[in-house]
Amino acid sequence: MSARFPLALLGALAYASASEAADAPPPAAFTTLQCTACHVIPTVAAAPRTESCAGCHAWIESVAQNPAARAKAMEIFPKWPRYEVDVKTYFAVPDLGVAAARLDPAWVRAYLADPYDVRPGLPETMVRLGPEAKAGVDDIVAWFSARSRPVSATPTPSAANIPAGEALFTTRSCATCHAFGGRFPGPGIPAAPDLQHARDRMTDDTLVAWIQRPSAFGSTAMPDLGLTVTEAVALRDFIVLADPRTHPSLMAVATSAAPRSPVAAPRWDDVESRVFGKICVHCHMDPAQNEGRVGPGNGGGFGWPATGLELQTYASVVANRDRILAAMHRREVEAPRDVVPAGEEPQAIARPQKPGMPLGLPPIPADDIALVELWYRDGAPE
Ligand code: HEC
Ligand code: HEC
Ligand code: HEC
Ligand code: HEC
Repeated sequence: MSARFPLALLGALAYASASEAADAPPPAAFTTLQCTACHVIPTVAAAPRTESCAGCHAWIESVAQNPAARAKAMEIFPKWPRYEVDVKTYFAVPDLGVAAARLDPAWVRAYLADPYDVRPGLPETMVRLGPEAKAGVDDIVAWFSARSRPVSATPTPSAANIPAGEALFTTRSCATCHAFGGRFPGPGIPAAPDLQHARDRMTDDTLVAWIQRPSAFGSTAMPDLGLTVTEAVALRDFIVLADPRTHPSLMAVATSAAPRSPVAAPRWDDVESRVFGKICVHCHMDPAQNEGRVGPGNGGGFGWPATGLELQTYASVVANRDRILAAMHRREVEAPRDVVPAGEEPQAIARPQKPGMPLGLPPIPADDIALVELWYRDGAPE
């Protein structure tokens, strides 16, 4: 064995294939499955702003901060002030180049088949992909494997390091950005993962390399904190071995949603501004009002077939009452999978065959669904 495969040669081979693979062309599936509508992917062209959830939402935020551009936008878009208040999602979608360099490809495959909430500070989650995404996902996982960053071997994790690691977790500012289950409930900054999932997402060796120098993995919002290897190992051992369920000195902060004004006799304007025009239209556009663009919910996307369903016009929302209500209730069935309780595995659920709506976004609040139901019951007044 060792005569035919000398170690030095093996090492050189592994290295060559890793760097060649990093230059390998990315699979077409990133574009055909519309991953580029949300993610930055190295060497793949970004979706144009009119088709980019992340690009257009970031653009709205930037215009809001620029007085001259804002004045112009107000002239063109009559509802502009409402847009600035409403847009809250897709500001911190992970870069897939950095993700590929550190995440375990087996975790990525399982996650793409059945996603859950990794970043508790983000209201949105990864979208659930459809049956037509299967071959594309194989290509995407292969691309992830090829881009894994080679790292050095590190000592086996030891529980003796937990106290030192936990102390560093607070003194080196990790806890200001990251949640760690219920032990550090956070939620931290939107872009930072809850570290209770890191033991499933990354290998022990990659964790040490990442904690020591995240910038070596690509462009990321996590700063290099100048830690020694010993400190990085202690932090890694805390992250992979400590019980994420409880922390003696911290209590979960209760959050309450802002109260909403009740509407006694809802009209189209009310359901449009709270549900259909605010959320659904972004994936279910009317081509007549969008230069032919229809969105992934109407024309098909993320591996799901076309539905032909636009939710921008009164007529279509009225005509599709039963499908719409059923789709919103399916999202409630999927919701227990979204948030992972501290220290537990993501809850296994029987997913309805068709995905719940809105896809990858929090379920519509119960009082807004009640509003839509009341509006239909009243005969859908215009
Ligand atoms: C509508 C927006 C949207 C689309 C489209 C989308 N994603 Fe995501 N994706 C997200 C968000 C948001 C997250 C982060 C969720 C979280 O951390 O809870 C995410 C997370 C991920 C992650 C985990 C990365 C990490 O660092 O945690 C992978 C892998 C991923 N997406 C791959 C894909 C692929 C492949 C496609 C195309 C088939 C795709 N995504 C399409 C929004 C999207
Ligand atoms: C061309 C610009 C543009 C694009 C592209 C776009 N949006 Fe939006 N988005 C907006 C505006 C404007 C609002 C505010 C709408 C309102 O107030 O009625 C908004 C609001 C939203 C909201 C409700 C507020 C929030 O942030 O939770 C959701 C959900 C949403 N968009 C999802 C998406 C998704 C998913 C995509 C990609 C398929 C997308 N958007 C693409 C401009 C855009
Ligand atoms: C300024 C905010 C910030 C600080 C401080 C910070 N991180 Fe991070 N960290 C992030 C962000 C943002 C990411 C996600 C990077 C990405 O997706 O590109 C991340 C990712 C990680 C990951 C990968 C987890 C995963 O599941 O993908 C680990 C592990 C991690 N950080 C550990 C630490 C440790 C340990 C410290 C303290 C020494 C620390 N971080 C300090 C922002 C921060
Ligand atoms: C992130 C994009 C996205 C958003 C936001 C979204 N949808 Fe969808 N929608 C899809 C996709 C993709 C499909 C195709 C899935 C399928 O085959 O059922 C779909 C399908 C549907 C269907 C067809 C299901 C059937 O009966 O065949 C309905 C109804 C629907 N959506 C309603 C809604 C409503 C109501 C909202 C807002 C509360 C909404 N959608 C928001 C992407 C989206």
